[in-house]
Amino acid sequence: MCGIVGYVGNQKVSNLLINGLKRMEYRGYDSAGISVLQDGKIQTIKKSGKVSQLEKLVDHTLYDSTIGIAHTRWATHGEPNDINAHPHHSSDDKISIVHNGIIENYAAIKKNLQEKGYTFRSETDSEVLAVMIQAIYEKVQCLEEAVRFALNEVDGTFGLLVLSSHEPDRIIAARRGSPMVLGIGDGEYIVASDASAIIQHTRQVVYLNDNEMAIIKRDGFETKTIMNEATTTHIQEIEFDLEHIEKAGYEHFMLKEIFEQPETFRDAFRGRLLADKGNVKLGGLTQVQEKLRQAKRIIITACGTSWHSALVGEYIIENLAQIPVEVEYASEFRYRNTPLYPDDIVIAISQSGETADTLAAVYETKQKGATPIGIVNVVGSSIARETEAGIYIHAGPEIGVASTKAFTSQISVLTILALYLGRMRNLSQSDGKRIAAEILEIPDKIRRILNRSDEIKALAKKQAKSRNYLYLGRGYNFPVALEGALKMKEISYIHAEGYPAAEMKHGPIALIDENMPVVIVATKDEIYEKVISNIQEVRARKGKVIAIATEGDENIKDYANHVIYIPSTLPMLTPVLAVIPLQLIAYYTAVELGCNVDQPRNLAKSVTVE
Ligand code: F6R
Repeated sequence: MCGIVGYVGNQKVSNLLINGLKRMEYRGYDSAGISVLQDGKIQTIKKSGKVSQLEKLVDHTLYDSTIGIAHTRWATHGEPNDINAHPHHSSDDKISIVHNGIIENYAAIKKNLQEKGYTFRSETDSEVLAVMIQAIYEKVQCLEEAVRFALNEVDGTFGLLVLSSHEPDRIIAARRGSPMVLGIGDGEYIVASDASAIIQHTRQVVYLNDNEMAIIKRDGFETKTIMNEATTTHIQEIEFDLEHIEKAGYEHFMLKEIFEQPETFRDAFRGRLLADKGNVKLGGLTQVQEKLRQAKRIIITACGTSWHSALVGEYIIENLAQIPVEVEYASEFRYRNTPLYPDDIVIAISQSGETADTLAAVYETKQKGATPIGIVNVVGSSIARETEAGIYIHAGPEIGVASTKAFTSQISVLTILALYLGRMRNLSQSDGKRIAAEILEIPDKIRRILNRSDEIKALAKKQAKSRNYLYLGRGYNFPVALEGALKMKEISYIHAEGYPAAEMKHGPIALIDENMPVVIVATKDEIYEKVISNIQEVRARKGKVIAIATEGDENIKDYANHVIYIPSTLPMLTPVLAVIPLQLIAYYTAVELGCNVDQPRNLAKSVTVE
């Protein structure tokens, strides 16, 4: 949420910063701006709209500066116009900041500064940081101290970069609750909220910790806490390659990521699934192995798509390991007084590893003495670091704002976790082997569905004028119905509801008429006949049924208007297959309607505010 990038080095900075913003545009695209230090002064250009709008205004020939900061915004306080765009200046224009996060006590700080005669230009919470740093600088005459004192005054979260004509050789970076990565190049440093803005320049990075700041100059950098205590840095290597953050010939990142799923699903269990033993090895859980063996209850907490994978995980873990599992929206978990006990395991699932609510749920877990475990994609992210143990899903960068491959990779990890927990308890080796053998087949089965994407595209085109969709599923496929509806809503702006198929008759059935497409996951399992009854109920009200069915099921053609076949698998693994056509229906519908698939309105990847 909001992308920020800064550079100090020997290259001309304006083009470099714009390219950095383009890499992070999926984090927010309401407005964009840059500040560079040119001839001893801060020069800022900012514009509402996408980075391409900003780019048109930046004449790179005007600048030979080699130091600057930039921002692409996802608006929280203040509408997305030119004035509210970042960077924000101090009232004397000598300090420029870019900020990701929320300053909760900004109103009180602003009032106080206004009473002292300082002026403000925007409606944002962020601007108070620039003006506050100015006010403190006037007293202490040291930028680092001024930033530090200011950060000790604010409540809330920040990923912050500060540039000042007072001390033109440095950028000061700081973080609390918002990611910040410092890339270490040869005589140059690039600091950003996202490693994807850095990888073009260097693979060597330092992830700043919460409440840590970095003073970055051409000839070196120093880190310390915002309480001025020295900190040690660990240089790490970025794990992914540049090609992972490029479209590789696909029209959109979302489509590329949908098509990556045979590989990403496999990457999540590769080296962990011991198929011949019917068991699983999870190095990231070694230190909590005994706690997992003793656990009486697991709580899984997450948001959005990750919450849907959590629901699938609940069913699989309860089935294989017979441990009671509860799934909680992270935003609810943190604010209600959830009873937690020391032998509870709390699994936080997050693609970005930065979702504010999920991170807060991890803190709450620690506070109450239970054990937090992460299932995370982004290596080195806050949730990965704050949890006691964890399992990376290794899906590679997910750039499309609508999550796709992360969902199936999360299920891949949850399935092997369930197997791991089951084998610690009563699950037999032969059952373990049977499930493991089927997991190995899934990548190929996903590929077979993707090969039929043209058929799904034609269907999506035909249905694109529908203004509402209903998605139904039962058992393991109820969360798939929720996920299918979410995908449709977020990228095509068509209203869609996901429901447990049997619950439909308790209300949503009233919505069904000849204009309502109803997507029903009706794969062959023990509740197949019940789902067929639900289909009949829809047909009786003239609803148009699109069934996701198991290959070879000819019977379903008698009930559905359209059938999309997926290969047969174990019921617990059907969500991974059933979701693929639903991702494709949403994608092709959005394309047909001319929607911006990778950057849907009002959304941003990585929601680092509450
Ligand atoms: C939906 C989507 C969001 C995220 C949610 C959680 O396509 O992308 O609903 O799933 O914001 O994000 P993470 O998994 O990064 O915590």
